[in-house]
Amino acid sequence: MADLLIRNASQILTCAVGENAAPFAGKNQSAIGLTTGSIAIEGDRIMAIGKAADNTKAARVIDARGGVVLPGFVDCHTHAVFCGHRADEFELRAKGVSYEAIARNGGGIQKSTGQLREATDEELRAAVLRHLDQFLDGGTTTIEAKSGYGLSLEHELRALRALDVPHAVEVVRTCLAGHSVPPEYKSKRRDYITLVCEEIFPAVQRDQLAEYCDVFVEKNVFTFEEGQAILDAGKRHGMRGRVHADQLSRSGGARLACRVGAITADHLEYATREDAVAMREAGVTAVLLPGANYVLNQDQRAPARNMINMQCPVAVATDFNPGSAPIQSMPLTLNLACVRFGMTVAEAIIGATINAAHTINRHDKIGSLELGKQADVLVCNVSDYREIAYWLGRNPITHVIKKGVLVREP
Ligand code: NIG
Ligand code: FE
Repeated sequence: MADLLIRNASQILTCAVGENAAPFAGKNQSAIGLTTGSIAIEGDRIMAIGKAADNTKAARVIDARGGVVLPGFVDCHTHAVFCGHRADEFELRAKGVSYEAIARNGGGIQKSTGQLREATDEELRAAVLRHLDQFLDGGTTTIEAKSGYGLSLEHELRALRALDVPHAVEVVRTCLAGHSVPPEYKSKRRDYITLVCEEIFPAVQRDQLAEYCDVFVEKNVFTFEEGQAILDAGKRHGMRGRVHADQLSRSGGARLACRVGAITADHLEYATREDAVAMREAGVTAVLLPGANYVLNQDQRAPARNMINMQCPVAVATDFNPGSAPIQSMPLTLNLACVRFGMTVAEAIIGATINAAHTINRHDKIGSLELGKQADVLVCNVSDYREIAYWLGRNPITHVIKKGVLVREP
């Protein structure tokens, strides 16, 4: 007797890893593990899958009506703790003003830093909860979330604490104190890096506020050497690195990720085939962010095909933030990964489930539908999984089950 049975699925995408302990790469990047039938859930675990589950008796039954069932999405790159919006900058960019020019004139990250520092703890938490609700609507059941708009000891810690809220969406935290040099340190940037390494990271470690650290390696932000100092300090304080790498120029972020043993290099518009090989060798997953690429209207695209051909594992995420990526929908992000980066739907789905779970070290619990794994499951009202990415701007998710609990239904 199960607690919950999802029956009548035309396609179940298990994304099953089986014995394979590594992220999926190359041909396996599209190994979505197609089957059909039912999924039986007991407590927060999956107890049967496929035809074998069809006749399970259950306390509650969800009829998928010939729809597609897949693992809850794992969004492994978000900046989910911010207040307000930057719609003014969105309009300026539409008029032709560049992201960099807006940042130079006091907009960009600096503007969000001002908004976050002015917000009360309650306002910050309310904003996070609102964001998490929207993630769940789009089928995202776990996120990685970065600080990075606090940029001082007090406000980075406040931001990380605000991410610890009771909500169905699980949050894995990253300290992105290395997002930008805040205005009060513009003339003494070395002092800011010292603050990050010697005060912020130790405090984050002491209170266990983050599992990862991150740095934005970019022209006019942090250099390769500064990024290395920050990531090395993060590592000394128990946080493995993630890197905002080669997004707007060839900053060397991917090479840095390899050098310091980061778990991911993210963005990667200017990464090369050689970077992809180095990342494969160093065990760095490429996190591609097609929403940011689209919103910034970049002609330069992350070389997804080269990465997959070179056996470098690829994850796909939203980059949800108020500047370059006001996007939380994974179905829309999958569409952009296909249209703009040339990925297949299957490759993109693997990137947004099991490969993303690997980048937050949760692959043994989430990211695939397998016996004994946590029951994070989506039901979609389409009969072919490719429709999830195909119907542009439509939300195909009808039911969301998180840890065995039905948290969204029509
Ligand atoms: O991931 N690349 C740097 N940081 C963010 C954008 C932050 C912002 O504009 O607020 C990103 O795209
Ligand atoms: Fe980002």
